[in-house]
Amino acid sequence: MPEIEIKDELYSGKAKTIYNTNDPDVMVSHFRDSLTAFDGKKKSEAEKKGYYNAQISKKLFEMLEDAGIKTHYLGMLDDERMLVQRVEIILIEVIPRNIAAGSITRKYPFEEGFRFKEPVVVMDYKSDEHGDPMLNDDIAVALGVATREEIAKVKELALKINELLTTYLEKQGLLLVDFKLEFGRRNGEIVLADEISCDTCRFWDAGTGESLDKDVFRFDKGDVTGTYEKVARRIVPEIFE
Ligand code: TMP
Ligand code: ASP
Repeated sequence: MPEIEIKDELYSGKAKTIYNTNDPDVMVSHFRDSLTAFDGKKKSEAEKKGYYNAQISKKLFEMLEDAGIKTHYLGMLDDERMLVQRVEIILIEVIPRNIAAGSITRKYPFEEGFRFKEPVVVMDYKSDEHGDPMLNDDIAVALGVATREEIAKVKELALKINELLTTYLEKQGLLLVDFKLEFGRRNGEIVLADEISCDTCRFWDAGTGESLDKDVFRFDKGDVTGTYEKVARRIVPEIFE
C-alpha cells in the first residue's frame, strides 16, 4: 500500500474517530481513551484504553481474516490507529449471545449466567436517537436499513464469527458471553466493520466469572485500564514482550 496520509475528520463517535485519507478507499479509525455508557449518559476516560482496544481488535480481525471472514481491516497506521476499507455501514447492531447477561436479562426472564442451548442473535436498530430498539426482519426491511437477503447473510456471518471467536477465546480462558458486530457493504459484498474489543464484547474469566470488559465501567466494578490490560495480556501477549 502506498504511504497513507490522514486528511479531514469524517466522523467522531463515542470511542473512535474516523478520518479520510489520501486514498479514497481507505479510512483511519482512531481508538480513543474516552468511554461512554447508557447512550452517552455516563462518560469517562481511561488511560491506554484506546491502545488496548485497537490491539485486541487488530488481533481478532486478523484471526477472522485467516479463517476466511471478510473484514474492513487493512493494517495498522500506528498502535492506536487502524487502516480500514471505506464501507457503507448497515445500521444494524448484530449481537450474538451465548450466555444471558445485560439487556436480555432485563427484558426477558433469563437469569444472568444462563447458557443458551444455541446462540441467540439479537438485532438492534443503530440509532441513538431512538435508543437502539430491537429489530425483526420486517421492521428492518420496512425501515429500509437492509434487504431480507442481507439480513440472512449478516446473521449467518455473525454465527460463524461467534463460533470462531468463542473457540479462539476459550483457549485464553475467556468466556465470550455476548458481543456486538457491525457490518458494511462494499462492492456488493458484506464485510465485518467497526471493532471487536472490550468495549463491544462481554468477556468473563472462565475460572472466576470476573467481568473483563466495559461492564467494569458501566457498573463501577473496578479499574478500566487494569481490566483491559488483563484481556490484552491474554489476546495479544506479544505487545507486552
Ligand atoms: P446489552 O446487553 O447492553 O444489549 O449489550 C450486548 C452486547 O453488545 C455487549 O457485549 C455490549 C455490546 N454493546 C455495544 O457494543 N454497544 C452498545 O451500544 C450496547 C448497548 C451494547
Ligand atoms: N456504547 C453505548 C453508549 O455509549 C452503550 C453501552 O455500551 O453501554 O452509550
